[in-house]
Amino acid sequence: METFSEIFMPQRRSTFAADVDTLFHFIHITGFILLAGITIAIIYFCIRYRRKSDDEVTPIITHNANLEITWSVIPLILILIVFSWGFRGYLTLYTPPSDAYTINVTATSWAWQFSYPNGGVSIEDLYVPSNRPVKLVMMSEDVIHSFAVPDYRVKMDVVPNRYTTVWFEAREPGTSVIYCTEYCGAGHSSMLGNVIALEEEEWEEWLESGLEVDEDMPLAELGEQTFNQSGCDACHSVDGTPLIGPTMQGLFGSERQFQDGSSTEADEDYIRESIIDPQARITEGFPPTMPNMAGALSERQIEGLIAYIKELQ
Ligand code: CUA
Repeated sequence: METFSEIFMPQRRSTFAADVDTLFHFIHITGFILLAGITIAIIYFCIRYRRKSDDEVTPIITHNANLEITWSVIPLILILIVFSWGFRGYLTLYTPPSDAYTINVTATSWAWQFSYPNGGVSIEDLYVPSNRPVKLVMMSEDVIHSFAVPDYRVKMDVVPNRYTTVWFEAREPGTSVIYCTEYCGAGHSSMLGNVIALEEEEWEEWLESGLEVDEDMPLAELGEQTFNQSGCDACHSVDGTPLIGPTMQGLFGSERQFQDGSSTEADEDYIRESIIDPQARITEGFPPTMPNMAGALSERQIEGLIAYIKELQ
């Protein structure tokens, strides 16, 4: 069944993926059998009861109680099976086990941010232990997004001013893609991330140390890494192409024109302000959609970003 399933479906990485797939295949296959049966019956009747001559009159049949009961009861049974099966699955999917490890998710246009109970924050990539239930408590900072991981068979809207939750348990270590499945603006298609499931011990180690920034890395290199890992690349190019936000190429030292008519030269202070208080001054011709990165980046990462941007001339 697993091999059959993988022809049509993504890998099954969560504990309940198999149940979701079995129900899906049940609906799919019964639907197909009904379609085939009805199509064959229509073709058969068309041929068998076609008009053969003018004097042969078709008898007028008003109803047939047995037939009518049959074609009402069989679909009713099928629907009841699908309903009770689906409802059980729904309850499983929306009732996290009480010992689930809770991670907070913040969606912004257009990045995922994950906050762990020990104070750590990761952007784009969500690190979870395998073989342990994980519960996500999610909220959006702006518009409606939707958190979906096909490999885990989970999907849930992430809305402003209200927490929504989703839970799963990874069957084994591995990486699965996170998609945003609610159209949320120009950067929607690049609002991607990964769920990285690690062995429990490895994950605990990551939780302790992985969130710390590598202090030995040269600043510009750290900046480039941060730029790509923290989702900056979703909205800012480094080669001059205008995306949702201004390109980083040639930014440093250039004259910035703002929507309120003022202007300034892009120096270190300006770039830092753009990262930790992006709504303070909005560059003319661009929407005010940059998420606030204060708290999500270390001071050294911000310095790294500035050093990296300086190099992009
Ligand atoms: Cu966020 Cu689409």
